[in-house]
Amino acid sequence: MDLQLANQVVIITGGASGIGRTTAEYFRREGSRLVLGDAQAEALAAAVTELRAAGAEVVGETVDVRDYAACQRLVARAADTFGRVDVLVNSAGIGGPTMFFAETIPADWQDLIAINLVGVMHCCRAVTDRMIAQHSGRIINLASEAGKGNEKRIVVYGATKGGVITLTRGLAVELGRHGITVNAVCPGVTRTPMTSYITDEMEREWARMYPLGRLGRPEDIAPLITFLASPQASWITGQAISVSGGFGRS
Ligand SMILES: NC(=O)c1ccc[n+]([C@@H]2O[C@H](COP(=O)([O-])OP(=O)(O)OC[C@H]3O[C@@H](n4cnc5c(N)ncnc54)[C@H](O)[C@@H]3O)[C@@H](O)[C@H]2O)c1
Repeated sequence: MDLQLANQVVIITGGASGIGRTTAEYFRREGSRLVLGDAQAEALAAAVTELRAAGAEVVGETVDVRDYAACQRLVARAADTFGRVDVLVNSAGIGGPTMFFAETIPADWQDLIAINLVGVMHCCRAVTDRMIAQHSGRIINLASEAGKGNEKRIVVYGATKGGVITLTRGLAVELGRHGITVNAVCPGVTRTPMTSYITDEMEREWARMYPLGRLGRPEDIAPLITFLASPQASWITGQAISVSGGFGRS
């Protein structure tokens, strides 16, 4: 299927690593023009160099999504470089401490909320004026299966992702009349640098909870993101779609 994403201008936060990095590769194969934003300057530069060597039109912008002005600069960079912004993928995020809620203190939650929830709000707000003016746009937010059901020891992480899901639904309702779709993708546990603490032995153990018998890989998540960005997904909005090997079924 031709996803008709050639020349589309795609911003990916968290584009230097994991799901965001693999998603950049999938958009590159479609001929999209890429703007990667990430807090890790070195990894970002490496991703830009690799994608460019593979033929992509791509720029990178160091950004901390906790900083609204930086998110505005990221969007301005995309518009200045490529003239428009068609797609925003919010993949920047952190896992935070794996501790029982009763063992945490408020300081343990601040970055989780500031990056995983407020950071997504910042980037969404930074693109909305432009997408409204264009009367088109696609926003795809990385939430999580934990945002639907939540789990012990990642309660605040799950709460931020639940926030992303309801943010997504609310924005879909507000922005639909402007031709903008907003959807959330909810991965189950996926092997990336964020989950590098997972050993193969742990995967074998945890995989028993997954009907498809394994944990995820970024390549399991990126195809849905590119599909949601495509014209074929023009009647899908306000959804929180699980990609989780059958772990979650809501
Ligand atoms: N890996 C999983 O099991 C899993 C499961 C469900 C959801 N997710 C979500 O998917 C998204 C991507 O996760 P991943 O597994 O690819 O992780 P990752 O750590 O490989 O990539 C996340 C990227 O976000 C960047 N980032 C972190 N804080 C930032 C900030 N303040 N400003 C800008 N960039 C920042 C990091 O530098 C990194 O490059 C996250 O939102 C995560 O919560 C991951």
